[in-house]
Amino acid sequence: MEPIKFNPQSRVFTLRTCSTMYQMQIERYDTLVHLYYGADLGDTEVVHRIVNLDRGFSGNPYEAEDDRRFSLDVLPQEYTAEGNGDYRIQGIEIRHTDGSNCLQLKYCSHQILPGKYRLPGLPSLFTTQESDAATLEILLKDEPSGVEVKLLYGVFPQCDVITRAVEITNHGTSRIALKKAMSLELDFPKRSMDLIHFYGRHNMERQTERRPITHGIQSIESKRGMSSHHHNPAVLICDRRATEDYGDCYGIVFVYSGNFECQVELDQAEQTRLVMGIHPSNFSFRLSPGESFTTPEAVMTWSGKGLEQISHHFHDAFRNHLIRSSYVNRHRPVLVNNWEATYFQFDEKKLYGIAKAAKEIGIELFVLDDGWFGKRDDDISGLGDWYVNEKKIHGGLPALVQKIHNLGMKFGIWIEPEMISEDSDLYRLHPDWCLKVPGRNPMTSRGQLNLDVSRKEVRDYVMEQIFQVLDSCHVEYVKWDVNRAVGNVFSQSLPEDRQGEVLHRHMLGVYDMMEQLITRYPDLLLETCAGGGGRFDAGMLYYSPQIWCSDNTDAIDRLEIQYGTSFIYPISTMGAHVSVCPNHQTGRTTDMNTRAVVAMSGTFGYELDLEHMTKEEKEIASDLITQFKEIEPMIQNGDYYRITAPKDENNAVVWSFVSKDKAKVLVCGVVLRKYPNPPITLLHLRGLDPQKKYKETLTGQIYTGAVLMYAGIPLPLPSMDYESLQYRFEETNEI
Ligand code: DGJ
Repeated sequence: MEPIKFNPQSRVFTLRTCSTMYQMQIERYDTLVHLYYGADLGDTEVVHRIVNLDRGFSGNPYEAEDDRRFSLDVLPQEYTAEGNGDYRIQGIEIRHTDGSNCLQLKYCSHQILPGKYRLPGLPSLFTTQESDAATLEILLKDEPSGVEVKLLYGVFPQCDVITRAVEITNHGTSRIALKKAMSLELDFPKRSMDLIHFYGRHNMERQTERRPITHGIQSIESKRGMSSHHHNPAVLICDRRATEDYGDCYGIVFVYSGNFECQVELDQAEQTRLVMGIHPSNFSFRLSPGESFTTPEAVMTWSGKGLEQISHHFHDAFRNHLIRSSYVNRHRPVLVNNWEATYFQFDEKKLYGIAKAAKEIGIELFVLDDGWFGKRDDDISGLGDWYVNEKKIHGGLPALVQKIHNLGMKFGIWIEPEMISEDSDLYRLHPDWCLKVPGRNPMTSRGQLNLDVSRKEVRDYVMEQIFQVLDSCHVEYVKWDVNRAVGNVFSQSLPEDRQGEVLHRHMLGVYDMMEQLITRYPDLLLETCAGGGGRFDAGMLYYSPQIWCSDNTDAIDRLEIQYGTSFIYPISTMGAHVSVCPNHQTGRTTDMNTRAVVAMSGTFGYELDLEHMTKEEKEIASDLITQFKEIEPMIQNGDYYRITAPKDENNAVVWSFVSKDKAKVLVCGVVLRKYPNPPITLLHLRGLDPQKKYKETLTGQIYTGAVLMYAGIPLPLPSMDYESLQYRFEETNEI
């Protein structure tokens, strides 16, 4: 199967993955129209899908003369611009020097290339060998201005995803301002679809919402300079009847960690259009003659078998082609983090005490969180002063780290390189290094300001400080945090007409700093974080194989947070810890097994004062680590199934992992309430081989895959509220 084909007679492009097909055609007047995205149709070209009608109040291109049936206002297209009579949401908007904003993008040429295009300075899917992917570049041109738009398509046949990005070049003679440059535009000749998106707030990220797409424009967005706790840069579009294992579904993910906008519009002809890209608000990029702008990447996939297949496509694509860290499928050391154990109140004795207790139960990595540097006894001081506070860590960091290494444990440390406190030596030295609007008091958040990391000298200085710390002691893990949204957007280094570039340049600066870190320490395990899950996105996964999922460590709230996250992101990327009870965020008490079963569907670790644990609790905690290590390969590499959702009428939230060869199954869950005289609920597993026989490892009970899927097994009756369950099944030949 050729992943990309062009038929010069019909002028149709066909992109094919193992089970999907994407088609476009160069139509009359060199207009690039979108034909189809869905199930693979073999060699068929579905040109008959374009129906031209004379629609009132929809204009026609000049070249169409009196053919009123050819109107861009209703044609499905690949990438649309202002000023052509298409009044729907659009991919690109520019302003020419004369103040006009028209772009007539016509097909000019194309290239089919082996391998995957690159986006220097930006996160994007990669290939390990050229045959993993193929690239299609289509060049569109606005003849009068010389503006060229190159549409990039990366086709990954094995994981059924197609990536998109756009490169805009000013080949004209005068400067233009790019006002909007979406990464992806996708037309669906359909109505009656639902939009699923992931909204939330600090401590309650990625809640799942499903709503019908109705006439007009709906928008999911972040203008916070980070992908945000509030909306995730990923959406699903599906058939109204689609379920986990039924129906037509599309998934679109933005590989970017800053401002974004995803707009969806149902138009007058009952067609749906979606655009995804950098938010045009507070965005304007100046392009002088010869200069180019490249958008971040967007990834799309299609499933004809419901939502779970969308998740499988994204999980596989991200595990194999986005996460660069070698930890992606390596054992992640079980960690203890001191944040919820001590907050800012600690000294080296307390830290060592926790590390020692951790070692005794089998923990492998000690992570020193916020508060070890500068004059950082609270959250309003010290950011920017990346040298150890010897008033807290007497004897210095290398001595403490050495003692922890002597225990046979790895050492990790917390940093927040994108920030500065007004009460810091760095601010006193360089008050102009933060984002701040001249003549105004800055808006603070958690008492801190954003460093202007769009400036190279600023990011190089900060990274050099951090490198000195990391070099002084052998650090194996870094937690990179960011605890406020970007605000006061103004950079002292850019002229007035380039301030619209600050937010994107800031994001590129963050990526550059992360790149510097992982290049210098290739074996480092990097966990990114943003006040919990405020930057849980595909952009971050290019740098870090795991992201702290939420500051809410309550196991029951985590069921919803991790459920929403699982639609897009692999389970092994979700930072999840067992914390103390009553839980610090909710006051809820749950059994340690329950907290662990939830945290095991993630990176697994502890975040509590282990010195205060009873002997019995330590034994349980130790057993849980052994259990996690046994199931970790399933969590890292298996196919994930959401068996019951947290928001249904269900009294249990259950999920499972099935190994790729379908020989092993892990079922996990939490029963929410213990009812007296309870109803019996049957669990129907999914993704098994109906013919295979599976043995439940604890009881030895044997079932066929068909029985486990179609007849189901009764949900265990709990002995108390919030009791967890975990079953393992293995293929057997026994009768
Ligand atoms: C927010 C993070 O999500 C927490 O885990 C912790 O690292 C704090 N920041 C420290 O300030």
